[in-house]
Amino acid sequence: MKTPSRLLVSSLACLFAVTALAQTAPSGQSPVKPYDAAQQQRMAWFTHARLGMFIHWGLYAIPAGQWPGRANTTRAEWIMLQENLPSSEYEKLAPQFNPVKFDAHAWVDVAKAAGMKYLVVTSRHHDGFSMFATKQTPYNIIDATPFGRDPIKELADACHQAGIVFCVYYSIADWHHPDSPAEYSQRVRDPETNKQDPNHGFHGNPNPNADVHKYDAFMRAQIRELLTRYGEIGIVWFDGGGAFKVSNRGELLEADQMAELIHSLQPACLINNRLGVAADYGTPEQRIPGGRTVDPFEVCMTLNGHWGYNRFDDNWKSPETVVRNIADIVSKGGNYLLNVGPKATGEFPAEAVNILREVGKWTHTNGAAIYGAGPTPFGAELGYEDSAKKDRDGKPAWVDRDEWRCTTQPGNLYFTLLKWPGEKFTLPAFPNKIVRAYLLADPMQHALRVTPGAGGATITLPAMAPEGLAPVLGIEIEGAIAPRGGGDKLDSKKDTAS
Ligand code: GLC
Repeated sequence: MKTPSRLLVSSLACLFAVTALAQTAPSGQSPVKPYDAAQQQRMAWFTHARLGMFIHWGLYAIPAGQWPGRANTTRAEWIMLQENLPSSEYEKLAPQFNPVKFDAHAWVDVAKAAGMKYLVVTSRHHDGFSMFATKQTPYNIIDATPFGRDPIKELADACHQAGIVFCVYYSIADWHHPDSPAEYSQRVRDPETNKQDPNHGFHGNPNPNADVHKYDAFMRAQIRELLTRYGEIGIVWFDGGGAFKVSNRGELLEADQMAELIHSLQPACLINNRLGVAADYGTPEQRIPGGRTVDPFEVCMTLNGHWGYNRFDDNWKSPETVVRNIADIVSKGGNYLLNVGPKATGEFPAEAVNILREVGKWTHTNGAAIYGAGPTPFGAELGYEDSAKKDRDGKPAWVDRDEWRCTTQPGNLYFTLLKWPGEKFTLPAFPNKIVRAYLLADPMQHALRVTPGAGGATITLPAMAPEGLAPVLGIEIEGAIAPRGGGDKLDSKKDTAS
């Protein structure tokens, strides 16, 4: 007879099978709690920053998408699980990991050039390999590789020097630790015998010998190391929480204690919504919410199609797309965390650097429209629900409109023109008096002609767009413009890709 906890385990396993195919981690989503004054203060840098760099770097950069002798070339940071590699096989990567070209300042320079204000780096991904100097396991970059340097420390120092907020990604799921309760580790079988990998730490599902409290203590000890040895940390960016919330014995793991520990060590540190508790903000993954959103959120997205480095992946987003996404997300009140997957040499892929430098030309010219900017006071420009089409949940599909996006600062409206409208651009109606209109890309910021109209003023623009991506039209106004009321709540079910 199936006990409730067994049912739970098998339904989690099914859920996992589906999500693993989509290369996503099941994550313990928690609703973002309503803001109190203290949280608003903690969040101030984050809502000002708007743009951050995500970095997925680990042993998986060595196979770079394909395990030797295997056919599949679409792998990245999930390669251990997806290729059913026993720990004893995957571990062999560690002595090969020697990224001698790693230069923390070079990475931080790219982030800075792109206009990114914070950086979130994988301190330990689901493969369980610690990319920092930890005393909690020898399976770490100092003790297990010839490299012997601590990239997390070097990045933390470089970020702090450059004025970039330093943050760490930390996976709750661990395919290597013998006491981790991650149900999905059941899929790691010895490819020869098709038996559960006895070295893996998951001797079946559930592992009867796993001591989840030991695993909890291990994670807390690692988080303590990260929060006491690397200076100020802006965010602990948890992931893989689906495995954390429910242990193999159906117990709740100690997420509250984790949150308390973080806040006792660094009271200002933010926690994303994948720990299961204490969520400061939501993390929609690889998708931008359709309408305006009232909950604070950060869209995380890959720059090509993978998080970790995949040498076959040429599906890079253009700088135009990235700029469009920045304008879109900020006009909905969110942040954009854009990922780079560095190579095993320690270098960023050249394409990523080129794209980000192009993006940086735009952010440096048009920063007023982004950093600290508030969401659109309008909304119809974002798009509409098409009831003739259904999304994957059977709800009316969202259709983006891509003519322009609007963000606000006190006394200013900023219209990012995604398509150059030609000589006439009619603003939506608003009650405030217009003081001046100008293009942020114009070094002299010449005043443009403003012609009042019943439906909204018309601005006379040059016939040809100024050089550069998506020009921003600045409209100086008298008084404040009231933000549009309402907005959608983040749908936590859709909060990560599935
Ligand atoms: C997905 C991926 C995971 C990655 C995360 C970032 O869940 O499966 O590997 O770290 O996205 O949000």
